[in-house]
Amino acid sequence: VLTAISGPTISFHIFKIRPIATNFLLNVTDVSFETIEERGRKSDIDLFNRIMPKSHAFQFKTVIFQENLLEWYTHNRRILPWRAAKGRKSDPYHVWLSEIMLQQTTVPAVIPYFLHFTQKWPTISDLALANPDDVMSSWAGLGYYARARNLLKCAGVINDKYDGKFPKEEAELMLLPGIGPYTAAAIRSIAFHKPAIVVDGNIERITARLFAIKMPFPEGKKCVRENAAMLFTGIENARKESVRDLPQALMDLGSTVCTPKSPKCSLCPISQLCLGFQQGRQADYPIKTKPKQIPTRTGRVYLIQTKDGLMALEKRDETRMLGGMLSFPTTHWDIKDDTQSHKHPHHFRKLKTLHKVGAISHTFSHFHLKLEVWHGIIAGNDLQLFNKLRQISFHPYENLEHIGLPTVFRKSLNIFKKYHNQE
Ligand code: ADE
Repeated sequence: VLTAISGPTISFHIFKIRPIATNFLLNVTDVSFETIEERGRKSDIDLFNRIMPKSHAFQFKTVIFQENLLEWYTHNRRILPWRAAKGRKSDPYHVWLSEIMLQQTTVPAVIPYFLHFTQKWPTISDLALANPDDVMSSWAGLGYYARARNLLKCAGVINDKYDGKFPKEEAELMLLPGIGPYTAAAIRSIAFHKPAIVVDGNIERITARLFAIKMPFPEGKKCVRENAAMLFTGIENARKESVRDLPQALMDLGSTVCTPKSPKCSLCPISQLCLGFQQGRQADYPIKTKPKQIPTRTGRVYLIQTKDGLMALEKRDETRMLGGMLSFPTTHWDIKDDTQSHKHPHHFRKLKTLHKVGAISHTFSHFHLKLEVWHGIIAGNDLQLFNKLRQISFHPYENLEHIGLPTVFRKSLNIFKKYHNQE
């Protein structure tokens, strides 16, 4: 482990020591020199590399890195509805809402949802007092519905406990529903201009490339995240705008230049500092082992109509997948590879018209789902039976487009529409 001693003039340069043999980061030493060459410190690196031949030490110039990146951001920043215009303060409600929406979802997909939410609920207190069903259906299509349930809980806490204002401290932010280390750091730096180390997927990729980190993901993730802290060195002494802009500059660089496939290194403001680029292997980082196979679940979904065209929907139990959302009734989603082995729920068995009209597949984060789509018509006295079922409600067919169905059920509806048009 190299511990270098700083010279009389201090700026932000870092040694990183990484033994090539194991590709494991030994130590990151936060050392500062004006320039290594001028002060003769290059010899320290050479000496280290000589006495530890299996190791590789190099200098990472944090100041140049941050300056180049922030300069690039001035001219290339994306205009996004949650970002404050130049010279204006960000609204913490907007920053929080966008960060929650952007988890697992792309910027273009989030923009219309963000605009809809902020128009309908202009402040966090409006959101806290909203009808929860309304919020859930406005979220429909964004996926990962636990985020929407936590959004409501968090808005409630901010409204009740914090008088509608977000706390600024990371520890307090992390106690709020749905806010983990990443979101707390993002809110702190983007909304409040407070120093924080913000590491999302984009920033992980940039770090893995900059330092050519060879340890494969998922194990390498921890190593990459530790190294990402180097990108933020000195942030506690930086200007407020830099504190706010640095993570967003990294995110924009990751989305537009340092992209997962075919990174555009000729446009990159920090390519001369990038070990991955120097090796000509930038696109290989981060190195990933094959993702684990996810299981396939199967089940049935029922599009059941009354004679006058109303359609049956159920509110999904909180404990089920897509809990709290409106959906077409379904069976349980079991790990059986054969959709035909499922049984109809008890109350549908009586329907004489019940028949299969198609099938859909959909992938969630941790399983693939194959659903048979069934259609049936409720006739005569059967309607009384269905009206007694608490979880089922009937809705006009024309409303289904706007009612906020999760994507898997919109797909089911499309199958039904196709079938209906062919009839
Ligand atoms: N992805 C997550 N947060 C973001 C932000 N604030 N700006 C751009 N992309 C993001």
